[in-house]
Amino acid sequence: MSNIIVLGAQWGDEGKGKVVDLLAERFDVVARYQGGHNAGHTVFIGDRKFVLKLIPSGVLRDGVMVVIGNGVVIDLAALIEEIDSLKALGIDVAGKLCISNRAHVIFPFHRLVEKMSEARENRIPIGTTQRGIGPCYEDKMGRRGIRIADLFDPEAFRALYDVLAEDKRILAETFQIHEPIDYALIRHQTEEYAARIRPYVCDTAKMLNDAIAQGKRILFEGAQATMLDIDHGTYPFVTSSSAAAGGASTGTGVPPTRIGGVIGVSKAYITRVGAGPFPSESDGAAGELLRREGKEFGAVTGRPRRCGWFDVPLLGYTAMVNGFDTLIITKLDVLDQLDEIPVCVRYRLRGSDICEMPATYRTLEEVEPVYEKLPGWRSTTRGIDRFEDLPERARAYLRFLEERTGVEVGAVSTGPERNETMIRKGSRLEQLLSE
Ligand code: GDP
Ligand code: IMO
Ligand code: MG
Repeated sequence: MSNIIVLGAQWGDEGKGKVVDLLAERFDVVARYQGGHNAGHTVFIGDRKFVLKLIPSGVLRDGVMVVIGNGVVIDLAALIEEIDSLKALGIDVAGKLCISNRAHVIFPFHRLVEKMSEARENRIPIGTTQRGIGPCYEDKMGRRGIRIADLFDPEAFRALYDVLAEDKRILAETFQIHEPIDYALIRHQTEEYAARIRPYVCDTAKMLNDAIAQGKRILFEGAQATMLDIDHGTYPFVTSSSAAAGGASTGTGVPPTRIGGVIGVSKAYITRVGAGPFPSESDGAAGELLRREGKEFGAVTGRPRRCGWFDVPLLGYTAMVNGFDTLIITKLDVLDQLDEIPVCVRYRLRGSDICEMPATYRTLEEVEPVYEKLPGWRSTTRGIDRFEDLPERARAYLRFLEERTGVEVGAVSTGPERNETMIRKGSRLEQLLSE
C-alpha cells in the first residue's frame, strides 16, 4: 500500500486542491506538510465552491482524516475562521482534523515584520501574500518560535511570548514603524484561540506512523509548489518552506522509507503570482486570453496571475528534484480554442542552449525561451471522460509534453469539477493508486 505525495510542479495554483479532493477517496488520511494560509486550494463540488487554505482538501470526503503537520505554520484566527466557514457549508471537522503539537504559530506581529521587509529600501520585494508566513518560519529557524504545544503550558507560553513580542517591539521601534500593536491583547486572544483548537491537537507524527502500521494509506498534500520551495525554487522569489517532495517527511515525521510515490500536478500552460523571473511569460494578448479562459486570479489575494506557456526545462527540473512518478495535467480545456500552442522547449543563454535551471534569479531573468509551436485542436475537451476520446491533437500535445519532460502524463483534467478528470488506463498513476 503506497503512501503518496501530491504537489505542484510549477509556481503554484496548478489545481492541487482539485486533484487531492479527487484522489482522497482512495486514502484514509490526507496530510499537509508545509506552508500556511498563503495557500488557496479551490474545490468545486456541484454548485458549492470551497477554498481551503490550511485544512487539507481531503476534508471534503467522508471518512477521511486530515492532518496539519508539524511543518505547517498556523495563524489561529485564520484556522478557526476556516473551521467555522466549513461548518457553514455543511462540513464538520470534529473527529476528522488533527493538528500537530509541533507546528509553529503565526502571530499578527509577523505580518508587520513582513510588511517592513517588503517595503524597505534596497530590499527585493517578493510580492508575498502578506500572511506573516516568512517571518514565522524565520522565528522557527531562529529557535525562538512558539509551537502549538507551548500554548497549553500557560506559564511557559507567557514567558516565550513576552520575549518574542519584545523582539518585535524593538524591531518596530528601530525601523520606525508606527503601527499600534496591542501585544497584551494578542496574547489574550491567542489563549482563547488555543482553548478552541485544543480538541484537535495531538502528536501527528505518531498518529500518522500508527496509521501506516495499521495498513492505512496517507496522501501528502503539498501547498505552494516546487518553484516556490525555499531551497529549490527561484530564490529569493519563493515561499519560506520546503514545498518540494522532500518536505513531506520533515513536515510530518513520516520517514522517506514509508513514502511510495510522487505525483506532480502541472497546468497545461503555466502561471505565477508575485514577483520573480518567468521565462515563458506571455504578457500580451495571449497571456490575457489564458488569464480570462483560465480565470487566473489568486484564490487568496485576488491578484491577477501572470500567465505563460508550458516550460519544459522548468518541468524537467522539478521532475528531477521531486522524482515525479507521473504527472497530472490540469486545465487542458483552457487551450481548447487556440490555433497553435507554443511550448518553451529550452532556454538560450548568452548564445548557448541550456536545459538546466540556473541557480540565480538574475540568470533566469536573462534567458530567452525557445518555443516550438504545436497545432491546437480547436474543439471542447470538457465533458470528455476517457483519454482515448480526447481530440488527436490534444493527445499529440500531451505526448509532446511527456516525451520532452520524460515523465508520463497519468491523468488529465478538463474542468474544475471533481469528475472532470480522466485517469489513463495502464498508467503508472493507475498502478500507484491501486498498490
Ligand atoms: P491549487 O492552489 O493548486 O489548489 O490551485 P487553485 O485552486 O489556486 O487554482 C486552480 C483553479 O483552477 C481553481 O479555480 C480550480 O477550480 C480550477 N481548475 C482546476 N482544474 C481545472 C481544469 O482542469 N480546468 C479548469 N478550467 N479549471 C480548473
Ligand atoms: P497554492 O498552494 C501561488 C507566492 C506569493 C509570493 C511568494 C511568497 O495556492 O499554490 P509567501 O506569502 O508565501 O511568503 O509569498 O509565494 N505564493 C503562492 N503563489 N500559489 C500559492 O499557493 C502561493 N503561496 C505563496 O505570491 O510570490
Ligand atoms: Mg492556489
